[in-house]
Amino acid sequence: MVRENMKKTAETSAPLLTEIAERWSPRAYDTTYEVSKEDLTSILEAGRWAPSASNLQPWRFSVVTRGEELHTAIVEQSMSGFNAAWVPNASSVIFISVPAITQDGNAYPIAWFDAGLAAQNMMIQAQALGLATHPISGYNHEVVTELLGLEKDRNSIAAIVLGKSTDPSTLSAPAQEREVAPRTRLSLDEIVLHGLN
Ligand SMILES: Cc1cc2nc3c(=O)[nH]c(=O)nc-3n(C[C@H](O)[C@H](O)[C@H](O)COP(=O)(O)O)c2cc1C
Repeated sequence: MVRENMKKTAETSAPLLTEIAERWSPRAYDTTYEVSKEDLTSILEAGRWAPSASNLQPWRFSVVTRGEELHTAIVEQSMSGFNAAWVPNASSVIFISVPAITQDGNAYPIAWFDAGLAAQNMMIQAQALGLATHPISGYNHEVVTELLGLEKDRNSIAAIVLGKSTDPSTLSAPAQEREVAPRTRLSLDEIVLHGLN
């Protein structure tokens, strides 16, 4: 049975935006599908319009696309064992980086929070466009920093794998099991410490 765009809709105690409920992180990607420039631009715009502390917009995005030499180098040289098997199949990978320090030379932890907001904006926009995304941090960040030619004081913090999801049977047996497993979360009772009776 072909299960393109398999749904793993969140079970919730209150209704959610469809894009939030239906977003999930597949690993089976259509190796022939190419995300259009129009869709990619729309996704990057969504990242651009995320809020950030003092509107400093510390995020920078580096997109590598399947078929491009840089994409091949990055997926071959930097992906951790498990990611190496599936990340190359997706249409592209959006690497997100932020400065390690503020302009005054101070630690800049809020930049990571800002980048997370940009990442989620991009994933929700992709979902609305009928595309799939999978955030990853399992790669050699130093190798990626080097290959992307990022400045030394810039941290590559995570990436979003982007493409069209496909049938889980394209994955190896253990990966297939994970692909079809239900999505789980802690309950609201466990994560809301105060304010919801
Ligand atoms: C910052 C971050 C890093 C992640 N790194 C990886 C990764 O390296 N490889 C992977 O297969 N999944 C990775 N994931 C995906 C999570 O495992 C996944 O989002 C989580 O299990 C919830 O599943 P869902 O996104 O389908 O709801 C990462 C997610 C986040 C947010």
